[in-house]
Amino acid sequence: MDLDEAIYGRRSTREYTSDVVDEPAIRRLIEAAIHAPSGSNEQPWTFTVVRDQALLDQISQAAKSHYLATMPTGPQSERHLMLADPQFHIFYHAPVLVVISGTVQRGRIVEDCALAAQNLMLAAYGQGLGTCWIGFSQGYLNTPEGKRGLGIPETWVPVAPIIVGHPKTVPAPVARREPEIRWVG
Ligand SMILES: Cc1cc2nc3c(=O)[nH]c(=O)nc-3n(C[C@H](O)[C@H](O)[C@H](O)COP(=O)(O)O)c2cc1C
Repeated sequence: MDLDEAIYGRRSTREYTSDVVDEPAIRRLIEAAIHAPSGSNEQPWTFTVVRDQALLDQISQAAKSHYLATMPTGPQSERHLMLADPQFHIFYHAPVLVVISGTVQRGRIVEDCALAAQNLMLAAYGQGLGTCWIGFSQGYLNTPEGKRGLGIPETWVPVAPIIVGHPKTVPAPVARREPEIRWVG
């Protein structure tokens, strides 16, 4: 796929078919992810691939409870109402969750893992797959309980939880604000 087509065409996908994403496809996405740049070429990332739907249901429940218990906005906020809805599944029933975690204490693991995540999302789009970064899960995944549930060592930092699957519908374009550009010199 043409690079412009990937950059301008990728959308966060929130409706998936139940079709399986096979292992070679997931490996191709991770291969693209690890070609992202990283500070001092540390490549401080690991990829936890979760395909167990019962586990994803369980994490969705726990993450919603954690988010509601720790969020600063009031109980009537749109976000609160959405997360309090028992039908709302934070992973949108996607068949796969890839959690990109930083593995070192030093360096810029958030930047590095986010760059890997963007590569993964663009590569997925290039393969006809949909993705969405699920920030709602990050708080919970960074708790000792959340890490234990995925076998992530206590010292690692889950940075980018990305769902992957076959899109059921084509997501609508999302408008962008005009960039604020300041030319200096
Ligand atoms: C750090 C981050 C966290 C996000 N968290 C969520 C989330 O929890 N749930 C969700 O549906 N979308 C989430 N998104 C997707 C954004 O809502 C989406 O990228 C934005 O609306 C722009 O749409 P686009 O990705 O289709 O261009 C997140 C995106 C980023 C980068």
